Amino acid sequence: MSERMISVAIDGPAGAGKSTIARAVAGKLGFIYVDTGALYRAVGLYGLRKGADTTSAEQMLPLLEEIKVEMIYVEGEQRVLLNGEDVSEAIRLGEASMAASNVSAIQGVRDFLFDLQKDMARRHNVVMDGRDIGTVVLPEAQVKIFLTATPEERATRRYNELLGKGQQVDFDQLLAEVKQRDYNDSHRAAAPLKQADDAVLVDTTGLTKEESICKIFELVQSKL
Ligand code: DC
Repeated sequence: MSERMISVAIDGPAGAGKSTIARAVAGKLGFIYVDTGALYRAVGLYGLRKGADTTSAEQMLPLLEEIKVEMIYVEGEQRVLLNGEDVSEAIRLGEASMAASNVSAIQGVRDFLFDLQKDMARRHNVVMDGRDIGTVVLPEAQVKIFLTATPEERATRRYNELLGKGQQVDFDQLLAEVKQRDYNDSHRAAAPLKQADDAVLVDTTGLTKEESICKIFELVQSKL
């Protein structure tokens, strides 16, 4: 590699707006947006399809030998292939979120997906979002952002999103789930969610999507 690529790492809890912001900022910069959560979702989906207990390292680790996960870009959009099958939609459905969360707590799964993420950043200028990008995957990233919002704000966004899809939801239950997931993500042994020492903390509470994108874009520009 003759020139070093540029990496922007965006980490933070679920619902802080990472994917929306990372995708938009990548578009403005002409960088590739890498959604690393999709990789964990693909592994989780495989476990589900095999009827495995996705919380069990003993059951999940042997399955990794049967799995090939790839990321490809079609018209600028990331697609995830699981053994050649495009699972980009399937990984968003039903139990796949919980399965992804379960497998992401298994260190061997994290190791399995590490090279794929590293390799993307070695070959392209990227905006990569996840939970451990600034701390573990790309500690050398030129820009690191830890994106957050209060649990109430994140639950409200999710509430409005589901309502928009015509789904009946209980706000208090959503809020409890957000808090539980935060706790799980930040207390797990393998790569717990935490802000890198050199990451800039950005709180999007009270900001619109456009304001958040603008703020992050300006921040990235000031760092590059
Ligand atoms: O961002 P997401 O909801 O698509 O992520 C799915 C799961 O994978 C989520 O429970 C957190 C986990 N994850 C992770 O542990 N590390 C990453 N870099 C990205 C996602």
